[in-house]
Amino acid sequence: MQIAIGSDHGGYQLKEEIKQYLDKEGIGVKDFGTYSTESCDYPDIAKAVGKAVAGEEYDKGILVCGTGIGISIAANKIPGVRAALCHDVFSAKASREHNNANILALGERVIGRGLALEIVQAWLEAEFAGGRHERRVNKIMEIEKNPN
Ligand code: RB5
Repeated sequence: MQIAIGSDHGGYQLKEEIKQYLDKEGIGVKDFGTYSTESCDYPDIAKAVGKAVAGEEYDKGILVCGTGIGISIAANKIPGVRAALCHDVFSAKASREHNNANILALGERVIGRGLALEIVQAWLEAEFAGGRHERRVNKIMEIEKNPN
């Protein structure tokens, strides 16, 4: 499994923690920045990771900003991205099983490291359930093609 990861300055510390966790688990990770706590713009990172995941260069992506809100909104503008902002384990699992989320978004200023890593683990382990959920996800993708 290959994960694309990225954050702005507000999510930098948590991104680094998640990278360490993924390394320890033997999961391949490509860091799309940012590379310090210097202020930067989350849409730039969301776009880079979103394109890499939508283009299927990477299986999944993880994005972190201060709240997880801006970076997930921006990522969801890329066709093919289904970014889910999850701050609990139940939602993280459901976002994979029901929504086939291909990007997990987190807010470093919202939750602690321990919960964040549990969420990452649950999200990576959960599988898309398909069936009726596939029909609904296909309808989401249809909205992208025909928004009017
Ligand atoms: C940066 O200060 C902050 O606005 C950003 O990390 C994020 O929370 C935006 O949604």
